[in-house]
Amino acid sequence: MKIDGKEYRTIWFENNLVKIIDQTKLPYQFIIKDLKTVKDAINAIKVMEVRGAPLIGATAAYGLVLAIIENNDKSFLKKSAEDLFSSRPTAINLKWAVDRMMKKISGVSSDKILDIAVNEAKEICDEDIRFCENIGLNGLKIIENIYNKKKDIVNILTHCNAGWLATINWGTATSPIYHAHKKGIPVHVWADETRPRNQGANLTSYELNEEGINNTIIADNTGGILMQRGEVDMCIVGTDRTLANGDVCNKVGTYLKALAAHDNDIPFYVALPSSTIDWNTEDHKEIPIEERNSEELSHVEGFDDEGKIKKIQIYPKKSKAMNLAFDVTPAKYVTGLITEKGICEASTEGLKKLFK
Ligand code: MRU
Repeated sequence: MKIDGKEYRTIWFENNLVKIIDQTKLPYQFIIKDLKTVKDAINAIKVMEVRGAPLIGATAAYGLVLAIIENNDKSFLKKSAEDLFSSRPTAINLKWAVDRMMKKISGVSSDKILDIAVNEAKEICDEDIRFCENIGLNGLKIIENIYNKKKDIVNILTHCNAGWLATINWGTATSPIYHAHKKGIPVHVWADETRPRNQGANLTSYELNEEGINNTIIADNTGGILMQRGEVDMCIVGTDRTLANGDVCNKVGTYLKALAAHDNDIPFYVALPSSTIDWNTEDHKEIPIEERNSEELSHVEGFDDEGKIKKIQIYPKKSKAMNLAFDVTPAKYVTGLITEKGICEASTEGLKKLFK
């Protein structure tokens, strides 16, 4: 998608370096950063220079490429895989990507391993783009149906950033929106601010603006009243891990939006590529929920009057704060899962029908 009118992917490989858009600087500065070592890749995931389930999976894949360039020794690669895998705990795409890469390179001779790893990491990215594009085409039908009945702007609420910045291109939750916009369907997005890191305000609104899509940032608690007032036609969110039974783990606050949508008979869809399905965990209580530094709550960052980025403390110094990053929305509150293969019920049967 575009930034300042120029097409970008979120990650690419060039001259033995991994290039990323540093998302900790958006929307204030657009900086392309080089990752030179596997440690750089691990750090980029941890500090959220890259974030979003599919993108951290792709970064881990390229992290292994960097590890091979550094030291093509079996035990170093194994340790790098473990460190990449544990750099953030909740998104299943990390494990999916690391496992896929390790399987591909296992037993490969040292003269071929780099080429094979580079090709596989690129294929992970290309495949994600294809899948996200299909998610968009499948989700477009839902938006079209609403528009055909309403004959007026379709208002869509989303939480966090499941946009192209969270994937390689298109996004998951935003892909149907981009497709609807391209088709001339008038859409307007309510972008939940998404405290504490403000991915909705800093990233979703930013990327929608760059594509010319009408959007409004709202405080995280505003969705409920908008739904009661009939100002939300549907919700679409992304996910970091969806269980085979249809339970959806996503950015903290998603669950409350799903409850409000349920109470107001508003369709609540989750968009995901199959790389985000966890086929093995049966109980959502087993999903590791990331707890991040409470400083993300107690401090905020923004522009000062001179245009410089500044961080300030907004809580009393003595106050404790807790920063859980994800929650789980039970399948019963999810209207449907929009995947690359089609839309299905959020249930074991629904997912099995699409993914035999
Ligand atoms: O903490 P983040 O910014 O990595 O969380 C991102 C989300 O919660 C997204 O909704 C999810 O990863 C899906 S991205 C297509």
